[in-house]
This record gives sequence, structure tokens and C-alpha cells, in this order.
Amino acid sequence: MIAKVRGNSKIEGEITVSGAKNSALPILASLVLTSEEVLINRVPEISDVNEILSMIRVAGIQVTFSDNEIMVKSSSNLKGELGNFDSNIRASILLLGPLAARTGHAELPYPGGCAIGERPIDIHIEGLNKLGFLISEKGDRIEATLGKIPKEVKIKLRFPSVGATEHLMMTAAIMNGTHTELSNCAKEPEIVDLQNFLVSMGAKIKGAGIDKIEIEGVKAFHGTTHTIIGDRIEAGTYIIAALASKGLLKVNGASSETFNFIHELKKIGAQIITNEDHVLVKPSTLKPFKISTGPYPEFPTDLQPQLTFLACYTNGTSEVTEKVFENRFWHVDELRKMGASIEKIGDRTLRIKQSQLHGATLIGKNLRETATVLFAAAIADGPSRIEKFEIILRGYEKIWDKLKKIGVEVDILDQL
Ligand code: UD1
Repeated sequence: MIAKVRGNSKIEGEITVSGAKNSALPILASLVLTSEEVLINRVPEISDVNEILSMIRVAGIQVTFSDNEIMVKSSSNLKGELGNFDSNIRASILLLGPLAARTGHAELPYPGGCAIGERPIDIHIEGLNKLGFLISEKGDRIEATLGKIPKEVKIKLRFPSVGATEHLMMTAAIMNGTHTELSNCAKEPEIVDLQNFLVSMGAKIKGAGIDKIEIEGVKAFHGTTHTIIGDRIEAGTYIIAALASKGLLKVNGASSETFNFIHELKKIGAQIITNEDHVLVKPSTLKPFKISTGPYPEFPTDLQPQLTFLACYTNGTSEVTEKVFENRFWHVDELRKMGASIEKIGDRTLRIKQSQLHGATLIGKNLRETATVLFAAAIADGPSRIEKFEIILRGYEKIWDKLKKIGVEVDILDQL
């Protein structure tokens, strides 16, 4: 898909954030843990969600999805071997432990996802081994077989990986008779949302949001109803775009308590007023900054490309350091094509000078990087053309409506 972006826009108006992609994916993966009826609201209609749904359907879960609502019928035919198709999302790995715990053996395509660094799965595998699973890799497939079930398990994560924390939490939750203690856990709000969902189905878990999570495995989960939390990364993308363009933007449906990044933005001069159910971004003069990404509550890596773009609109020279993914710099070349002055210092730091961006021919790659390129093009001087624009549909729901509401004009030139 090739998009033509008009440029010279001010990002202003009002939008409502969708349910969080990074909550929806693990919650939908954990549907394989129950045989009973489940209703989930505020599920974003994005292609990553469709992808995980197609995988759980192959596993035997009967699920319908419309108007942001997922309904799961009760079923008893769970299958652990998911046949021969590719996985384009990394979150597919979350099915491995839960399926193997329930069926004894699971076989999945090797996880895909954004090309942002090496993204190994060693922390997942080490944890599953400790929980009693034998893991083997067969070319582009990965297998887990349930072995001897341990009574007491202590797992200290080498790094607070979001996916590994979720994966081990979900798997341990359905291991009846096993008490698991996870430490050095990731603390992202989406992990708390997953815990709330699992607990509402009968799981015995406590500690999500802090360093140590304790899980008492249970035999079976019952049905439930759950509403996904608002997407803080989607909200942050729009907030940063409004700040760069000095627009007045109201962001609804966002519970700002999890928006830790707003403190950092306020420190550099952003005028952001947070209310219980909305955030108001006012035109602001921003100071240059030095910000590093890191595991929650540090600045989110998923807003690093957007922050790099924002640095072009501060009054001086800023530095952005990426501490989560060693290779998340693809957006740098695209921003340079638009006239950004960005220098890489060492392996992980970018030095960005104030610059006026102009339109260019650009290419999308990875979700947050493509969103960055889109908003950079929207406020740049003159029109831009973005190839592989469809990547945005992986994680930004109702993007066409939302862009219209905030004054961004995009025409699709072809659907290739
Ligand atoms: C999740 C998010 C993603 C976000 C990331 C970090 C979802 C669906 N995706 O991805 O948007 O950018 O958290 O906040 O929630 N690592 C290992 N070995 C492992 C697992 C991870 O070395 O077994 C490394 C990764 O290569 C990376 C770092 O740990 O450098 C963080 O990865 P992780 O937190 O696992 O990210 P994801 O769960 O894949």
C-alpha cells in the first residue's frame, strides 16, 4: 500500500484511544486456557489481533469478533499442534506453554514480529524448562512437551521481558499443584491487565505490576467478561505528534495513570493536562532533552521512534538512548531523508538537532517506526509518499477516521 500524505498539517482536534494491542494479544492467547464462555470488550480491530485469533481458532477455540467485542463459545476440542502456517507476530509464542500445559504437547510456527533487534526467546524457554517442559526447535517450528510437573518453581528472569513474564504467568496459572514464583518480572500495565483477566477466570496470581509474581496453579478456568485497558502507546503517538506540530489535541478514553511517559514530556516543557478520562495537549515550546528508554516505569521503547522525531522540534540538541532493543533505529534514515539532523553516538544513542522537516519518499517498516514516519510526513513541509504503509494497520485502529479527525490528509495511491 502506497500512501500520499499532504504535509503542512497541524495535529489538532479530538480522538479516542482504542483498547491496548499489547493487552489484547496476551489476553486473547490465554483464551486457550478455558473451555467456557468468555466475552471481551474494547478489543482493537487491527491485523495483529486477527492474526492471534486465527491461531487460537486453529487450536479449536470458537470465537467471533465484531464491533470490538470478542465472544468465545464453550468448547472441549483443544489442539496443541497448530499445523503449517507462518506467524507474523511475536506474541504467538505466548500460546506455546498454555497449549502444552493443557494438551501435553504443542507445536507452533517460530514467532515473527517487528525486526527490531535480535529478539531471542531464551527467557521464555528457560522458564518453561523450569516449569517442567521439554522444548525443541525444528527449523521454523517450536515444540513443547509437558514432562514431570514440579511442585515448587522459582524463576528469576535474566531481563524483565514483557512477553516472558506473561507467558510464564499464563502457563504456571493452569499447572494444578505447582507453586511458581517469578522474579525480576516486567511491570508494564498490560501485565496487570492480563493478571486481572486471568484472576477473573479463577487463576490464583498476585504481584503483577511489581518485581515478584506468585502463582498457585489451578486445574481449570471458568468463563468471564473483561474490558481491555486503553492503549498508552497509541495515545503517546498522537500526543507526541500534537506536541511536534504545536496543535491542541484532546485524547479521550485514556486512563492517564499508566502514562508514565507524560511526566518526562512535562519535564521538557510539554503542557499536558491529565484528567480521569482524557488528556489535553496544548501547544508548547519544548526544551532539548536526554531521555533513555527502559522497562516500565522507564520511558517506553515503543515511543522511542516518535520521541526521536519530536526532538527535531525542540529548541536545541537532544539525545535519545535505546536500552531495550539494540537495533531499533530504522526510523533514523527515513527522518534523515526528510532533513532531520541525527547522528548516532555509540551503539544505542542518537544525537538530534532541531531541524525543519520536509516531504520525501519514505518507506514503512515495523509498527511504531511507520507511525513515526506518518506523523513526521503529516507535519513536514510539502507532500510525502510512504510505501508499505499497510504496516500501520497492525496496531493503529480506525486510523483513517482518526487521521481525518485530527486534520491529517492521506490518500492511498494503490493497494500493492
Ligand atoms: C513487548 C511488546 C512490544 C514492546 C516490548 C518492550 C507486546 C505484544 N509487545 O514485546 O511492543 O516493544 O514488549 O516493551 O506486548 N529478550 C530476550 N530473550 C527473551 C525475551 C526477550 O533476550 O526470551 C529481549 C528482547 O530481545 C528485547 C528485550 O528482551 O531486547 C525486551 O523484549 P520483551 O520485553 O520480551 O518484548 P516483547 O514481549 O517481545
